[in-house]
Amino acid sequence: MQVLDAIAQRRSIRQFKDSPVPEEDIRAILHAATLAPSGKNKQPWRFIVVEGETQRAEMVRIMREGTAELKAQGINPGSSEWTVKSMEQAPVTIFIFDDGETNDERERSFVDFLMNTVDIQSIGAAIQNMLLAALDRGLGTLWICDVFYAYEGLCEWLGENHVMVAAVSVGYPDEEPGPRPRKTVDEVTRWLA
Ligand SMILES: Cc1cc2nc3c(=O)[nH]c(=O)nc-3n(C[C@H](O)[C@H](O)[C@H](O)COP(=O)(O)O)c2cc1C
Repeated sequence: MQVLDAIAQRRSIRQFKDSPVPEEDIRAILHAATLAPSGKNKQPWRFIVVEGETQRAEMVRIMREGTAELKAQGINPGSSEWTVKSMEQAPVTIFIFDDGETNDERERSFVDFLMNTVDIQSIGAAIQNMLLAALDRGLGTLWICDVFYAYEGLCEWLGENHVMVAAVSVGYPDEEPGPRPRKTVDEVTRWLA
């Protein structure tokens, strides 16, 4: 598949078939992630692959628990109640962590903050590579930040003290959504010439 075709054809998939994803495909997706550019070539991405009925059920339980706790505190859990349904369907969810920063480092200087945005950009590039590599293999993906609504529960369950950046659910698509709206290039660009 040509790169520009893949970029144009990619969609967020929220309904997945109940068919297993071969490990070879997951490895190819992770390999594509590791080919992304990164600031100072630090390759700050770390991945945890969650698959299998038991692990998936526990992940979903923790997501629902986190959402329920927030609601009990009167905090709006955003779209997480819909997102967890996709995570429940997808045979594989890959969690992505930032190896450069731990959850203990909450107090940071502005310079630290800026430097961290370098790593986050690198990780974003890796995630986009994952989505495109999955598409190339006929797989659908959903890039998920609603995992933040169950942040502490998921980090504890996964045994990770690094900062969780996102998750990506992967599976065979059970829907064919059309393109979602985009601002035009002219709406988002200023030219200084
Ligand atoms: C950083 C990031 C976080 C996202 N988090 C979620 C999420 O938690 N749940 C969800 O359903 N979609 C999530 N999405 C998918 C967006 O909603 C989607 O990309 C957007 O609506 C455009 O649709 P498209 O991806 O099909 O072009 C996320 C996308 C990005 C890039």
